[in-house]
Amino acid sequence: MTQITPFKRILMTGAAGGLGKVLRDRIKPWATIVRLSDLADMGEARDGEEVVRCDLSDKAAVLALMEGVDAVLHFGGISTEAHFDDIMQANILGVANLYEAIHKAGVKRVVFASSNHAVGYYKTTDMVDASMPTRPDSMYGVSKCFGESLSRYYYDRFGIETVCLRIGSSFPAPINKRMMTTYFSYDDLVECLRCCLFAPRVGHTIAFGVSDNDGKWWDNRFAAHLGFKAKDSSTKFNDLFPDTSEFPAADDITTIYQGGKFLLDGPKYR
Ligand SMILES: NC(=O)c1ccc[n+]([C@@H]2O[C@H](COP(=O)([O-])OP(=O)(O)OC[C@H]3O[C@@H](n4cnc5c(N)ncnc54)[C@H](O)[C@@H]3O)[C@@H](O)[C@H]2O)c1
Repeated sequence: MTQITPFKRILMTGAAGGLGKVLRDRIKPWATIVRLSDLADMGEARDGEEVVRCDLSDKAAVLALMEGVDAVLHFGGISTEAHFDDIMQANILGVANLYEAIHKAGVKRVVFASSNHAVGYYKTTDMVDASMPTRPDSMYGVSKCFGESLSRYYYDRFGIETVCLRIGSSFPAPINKRMMTTYFSYDDLVECLRCCLFAPRVGHTIAFGVSDNDGKWWDNRFAAHLGFKAKDSSTKFNDLFPDTSEFPAADDITTIYQGGKFLLDGPKYR
């Protein structure tokens, strides 16, 4: 891994969200200023921070948000299955606004918080890598595929580098058996983001955000240039979900397919 040279100003969207709160202090060493943004309240700016409320679907506001920014951690948006109208505003229009602003501001490096739900219709017996077609399991997953394609376009057209990080399940601990496979510890997430931002060259990379869990479904060989090595594993939570039942259960699509319960939720239209 190369030596860290801090950025001038990193923008993190989604700063009021679950992961945004975890990352807020931990990304500080990477930039002189961290600009935090969300639709929701983020509290007062602390030392080295700027706090900007912004709706990603507001093009003019997103353009202004990007001024003076040299790297982006894009975590804002709808993070689960929802009505398509809402997903369209936050995750489709929002990402399009974001990349246009990124281009105009001359940002060189972006990490896009994509999701395992971009490939949730692969089976839990499949091994998925970044060369395989997307198979979204929800409108939410479709919106993440859109972000992955859009960022690819901005890379091919303008050379803006993006790592699309298909995050598994980044929570304090797995809360069901599926998450024993998809668990991505906060420490591994932070280290992975550091690699995504500071690897010398990432081009357009699709990576899976997952700890070193047993029985993983995702193969990260096409992201080896990031230099990320997971240090955690869900095995420390083995006692929570003793391996007593058949997995996948033959008659349960939430265990046959990687997306789990997301398969049951959509599509939702008003
Ligand atoms: N936590 C995980 O395990 C996980 C897994 C896969 C992908 N992700 C992705 O990582 C990102 C962060 O996840 P999280 O768990 O912190 O989600 P979260 O829902 O807690 O946070 C998302 C934040 O985005 C903000 N937001 C929503 N719509 C917006 C809009 N139109 N404009 C501006 N801000 C808006 C929300 O107010 C919220 O604070 C999301 O993009 C999510 O899809 C997370």
